[in-house]
Amino acid sequence: MPLSLLFLFICDCVGTHIVNGLENGLARKPPMGWMPFERFRCVTDCSRFPKDCISERLMRRTANLLVSEGYAAAGYRYLIIDDCWMEASRDKATHELLPSEDRFPSGMRDLGNYIHNKGLLFGIYHDLGEKTCMFHGPGAARHFNLDAQTFANWGVDYVKMDGCFASEIELDRGYPEFGRALNKTGRPMVYSCSWPFYKAQTSN
Ligand SMILES: *[C@@H]1O[C@H](CO)[C@@H](O)[C@H](O)[C@H]1NC(C)=O
Repeated sequence: MPLSLLFLFICDCVGTHIVNGLENGLARKPPMGWMPFERFRCVTDCSRFPKDCISERLMRRTANLLVSEGYAAAGYRYLIIDDCWMEASRDKATHELLPSEDRFPSGMRDLGNYIHNKGLLFGIYHDLGEKTCMFHGPGAARHFNLDAQTFANWGVDYVKMDGCFASEIELDRGYPEFGRALNKTGRPMVYSCSWPFYKAQTSN
């Protein structure tokens, strides 16, 4: 299977002025890796599309291929799940994000371990606003610290933070705030922000 490989560009989500991000040793060079979205979009029906649905099977298969086909050795080490990995609602009691039970039955910590055992790094998708862009799953709104800690507990190394379903004011406030929430967990995680993409075209 040909893998479409992407350079993942990281922007500065931390400072509003000239600051260039946290001095935490991460993303000194553009992180390189793979995300399923360009090829597999938001396929969630595993009974009709067992090989193409966004699932732990797809991620494990891809982890194996990144190693066996030499991409990992060439530097493509981040394997990042894009949108459509979650359940439609948070856990009723704890409000934590839940991975789709059908498609990620082993859970995200288990998947993270699998990815790490291959010598790769584990990335995940989230959205800063009310809902995720494609799947319309729960966004991070009002749950920044909880979600950052959930990702840390799962062994996440990289967070793609999308910007759908949030106002520009919420984006401007939220991106730095979520960055602080990630930092507070104590686990180094690359923070990949889609912030500029959602800024009004008229600014600057
Ligand atoms: C948190 O931020 C400080 C700088 O303010 C940095 O030294 C530290 O490495 C960061 N920790 C993580 C886990 O990103």
